[in-house]
Amino acid sequence: MNIVEIISKKKNGLSLTREELEFAFNGYLNGTVHDYQMSALLMAICIKGMNDTETFDLVDIFIKSGDVLDLSNIEGIKVDKHSTGGIGDKVTLIIGPIVASCGVIVPKMSGRGLGITGGTIDKLESIKGFKVSLTDDEFIKQISDIGFAVTGQTKNLCPLDKVIYALRDVTGTTDSIPLIASSIMSKKIAGGADKIFIDIKCGNGAMMKDMDSALKLKDVMERIGAFYNRETICEVSDMNTPLGSNIGNSLEVIEAMDVLKGKTGKLRKLCIKISSTMISKSKGVSYAEAEKEVLEVLESGKAYNKFLEFVKYQGGDISSLTVSKHKQEIKSQKEGVVDAISAQEIGKLSCVLGAGRESKEDTIDYTVGITLEKLVGDKVTFGDTLFTLYKKDDKDIEINVDDYYTIN
Ligand code: URA
Repeated sequence: MNIVEIISKKKNGLSLTREELEFAFNGYLNGTVHDYQMSALLMAICIKGMNDTETFDLVDIFIKSGDVLDLSNIEGIKVDKHSTGGIGDKVTLIIGPIVASCGVIVPKMSGRGLGITGGTIDKLESIKGFKVSLTDDEFIKQISDIGFAVTGQTKNLCPLDKVIYALRDVTGTTDSIPLIASSIMSKKIAGGADKIFIDIKCGNGAMMKDMDSALKLKDVMERIGAFYNRETICEVSDMNTPLGSNIGNSLEVIEAMDVLKGKTGKLRKLCIKISSTMISKSKGVSYAEAEKEVLEVLESGKAYNKFLEFVKYQGGDISSLTVSKHKQEIKSQKEGVVDAISAQEIGKLSCVLGAGRESKEDTIDYTVGITLEKLVGDKVTFGDTLFTLYKKDDKDIEINVDDYYTIN
């Protein structure tokens, strides 16, 4: 078999056999297929797509590249949650403590940022001491003890996805339905949860730009879940506007804590909806009963305390969270009402500030980011601060406000 022929076959829109997919992908993992060859194949897949057989084969190849976690000895329903990635999406940090406070176990395997979208692992690394790589034993002990743990992909869990994910991030090959479905579902199945909740982000700041693609992704992921006998619930949520007010790693952890302490708005509403769905599906109770439990743990402070317990358990020092002191306020040149805030442009800007990666080797600055001072629907007068940049240094950044905010 020959990698160049496999690339050409996909480039010409033909489907690849299981053996060809194994040759290319396993070859990349063990070093016989090079970065540039895999990049070409990924690009061909992005452009030409993959059929169901290829996608299901790829999921299986990803799963079999490592171990499958066995959580069956832990009592209770285990429900995992994943987002396809968005701007300002700190939902995991909020729903994990909520759902665990309601007695449902959340074993969470998370990733780093991909493209302009942020990743939970990067966000948690903004807390000094926070250990993002747990061994299987540590992970199992933590979910048994406190009901919630977040770990990056351990070396042995879908190692193939880990290397492909890092390459996709820097080769413009993130927005492919078969690649996203196989990346997410292989990790979720290998992660051992009984039920899987996927938040499919849809809009200009997400990999799925339109509802049609989001629904296609939902369909294929739900069918992969069913094939492996794991109930998979996918819901589509908006990503035309950044989620919440803060974008950037430490800034997002701070906002997650604010929501757990009572901050209201669109982000809190989405977290209540996702948590209630996860609890209702796991406990077999109605959505209304589940929502009542969610509101109770939020209002009593139980969910916030669970967040603190989780951070401490993983070695993090929450008092260490810092944001850069180099600020720049972006003012409005118009009067009116905020009609739209482009998630895509805000996501790109946060990467320019240093909150994301442009190459595999880039390091992230956890202290930089953006705070949206005015949200969609807010009234604005001339000279009001629309958003604040937290930068690496004091150098002014030239901003064309109209690229980010639509005010009418
Ligand atoms: N999250 C993942 O784990 N993989 C993707 O491809 C996209 C989002």
